[in-house]
Amino acid sequence: MKGVILAGGTGSRLRPLTKIINKHLLPVGSDPMIYWPISKLRDAGICDIMIVTNQHHLSSFIELLGLGEAMSVNLVYQIQKTEGGGIADALLGAKEFIGEDKFVVLLGDNIFEDSLASYVHAFHSQKTGARVLLKQVEDPGRYGVPELDHAANRIRKIREKPVHPASSFCVTGIYMYDQEVFRFIKKIQPSERNELEITDVNNLYIQSNELQFDILSGWWIDAGTHESLFKATQYVYEGFSKESSF
Ligand code: G1P
Repeated sequence: MKGVILAGGTGSRLRPLTKIINKHLLPVGSDPMIYWPISKLRDAGICDIMIVTNQHHLSSFIELLGLGEAMSVNLVYQIQKTEGGGIADALLGAKEFIGEDKFVVLLGDNIFEDSLASYVHAFHSQKTGARVLLKQVEDPGRYGVPELDHAANRIRKIREKPVHPASSFCVTGIYMYDQEVFRFIKKIQPSERNELEITDVNNLYIQSNELQFDILSGWWIDAGTHESLFKATQYVYEGFSKESSF
């Protein structure tokens, strides 16, 4: 299985830190943020990894990580052509790299405690479809929120940043896909914020009855704001292990 880390975006919520530095190169604990998703993939046995970023910051990533030797992974790079085009748009650039494989996508600013190994294992045994990881959060309206059918252990629908969230869970930026994802991305239209939303892609998987999920047991943070970036560093230093999220 291969891995794709999305490390583009404008980092607007982290200005002025991101005025000249890509968000994923900012420190989380003693390491640049991008080290965390790379380590998570590697520790789950996924060593062929594509980093998708914007043209402007590509050289910084190459200077920092090279071909991945120091982290015992094989890295390739892709430029996201449409800056701010959305997660699904960024994924399109990974099509050739993925080939016939199934793959794991990590949003580069999602920092979390769990090992991915058991979730990747579950996805290995899933013949087709996609798998997402959920986490209970205090502020679900900031994220993609699943409406859960507990009895059937399935997700009915996901809504992106809903005003009235249907559950207290969010869909984290940890996604696993088969080849269908590229066909689904071609079917969706830009959202109100003018992005190709990964939530729309996941809803197409739901309509095909092909979306499975797990719930993360450890802490999880989307380190895209000043407050959550601070918290991520705090968790990392304190070895935070309480059931929590930010
Ligand atoms: C994105 C996704 C959202 C998901 C979140 C996780 O949000 O669109 O569904 O819950 O990542 O970090 P964004 O960071 O684009 O606001």
